[in-house]
Amino acid sequence: MIVLAVESSCDELGVAILKDGKEVLSNIVYSQIDIHKEFGGVIPEVAARDHIKKVTRVFDAAIKEANIKVSDIDLVAVTSGPGLIGSLIVGIVSASAFALANDLPIVEVNHLLGHMYSGAIDNELVFPAIFLLISGGHTELIYIDSDNSYNLIGKTKDDAIGECYDKVARTLGLGYPGGPKVDNISKEGDENKYNFPRPLDIKDDFNFSYSGLKSAVINKVHNMEQRGEILDIPSLAASFQKAALEILLKKTKLALEKYNTKNLIIGGGVSANKRLRKYLEDDFKNYNIIIPKIKDATDNALMIAMCAYNEYKGKDLEKYKKYLIKPFSTS
Ligand code: KG4
Ligand code: ZN
Repeated sequence: MIVLAVESSCDELGVAILKDGKEVLSNIVYSQIDIHKEFGGVIPEVAARDHIKKVTRVFDAAIKEANIKVSDIDLVAVTSGPGLIGSLIVGIVSASAFALANDLPIVEVNHLLGHMYSGAIDNELVFPAIFLLISGGHTELIYIDSDNSYNLIGKTKDDAIGECYDKVARTLGLGYPGGPKVDNISKEGDENKYNFPRPLDIKDDFNFSYSGLKSAVINKVHNMEQRGEILDIPSLAASFQKAALEILLKKTKLALEKYNTKNLIIGGGVSANKRLRKYLEDDFKNYNIIIPKIKDATDNALMIAMCAYNEYKGKDLEKYKKYLIKPFSTS
């Protein structure tokens, strides 16, 4: 079964082609980092307009690299939300037009579910499991039962962890996108030099809060600047990261214990973080962890293809030849 998938929910535009859930025939990701770094963050209108300019070329590149005929494709899948509405619409309309023109079935995929499948390319997902979703817009702990039912057990009450990384990076003058910059510079710092708060460190509460931690870093930097102190950027970044990840993983471990499972699935852009991976290696030895390869952690269409393959394999695809996909929830 060959799936062509499209992902355009934010500032990445991706088209991927996946055969039988394991053979990656192509995975093209066109990133707009160079455009948005000038503004220090994603400008939704600019992102959608750039997707429009690139979308046909990204389709062409994916099909060419896969070295297949369009008639070999069995299913088209497209992210229908959550995401930026203008960006989503470009992907949805393009995928729908492609499916209609080629008489192919088309299905919608939830972006967050897509992140869950980003580690499934090389590993099998085993349930029951706790899914830790950590991205630019979401920080969630979800319990997935053996029957595949989902139960949201915790989420951020304010900022998402990725958003917090991006704002801290901006405060430290590291630029955009902030997550990888904080991750990289932290290696040169002392993560015990500054003591930042671990918010919502309450027993049996699986919710998160990252806006207080963000403000603590911003206040610390402003106070140091006012006192004329030299900013130790690597240590500020490393100490922030330690606080952000320690509370995240503490709650994740408590959730695994409470729900009595050893299976942990991690997805979303922040799962690319190297310090996070080191914590997992050191402190989660007895768990079965599914985490994407670093290159597959941030938004891409391969995870959408993987999700669609798993959800629709063996089904009668003829009935999905309907071309009216509406974007759902944008948050
Ligand atoms: O999943 P994603 O690509 O887009 C959303 O669905 O939001 O995640 C993007 C987020 C950004 O906030 C980015 O700074 C963060 O993931 N990120 C990282 C790293 N790489 C990307 N955060 C921490 N460490 C990283 N290495
Ligand atoms: Zn994402």
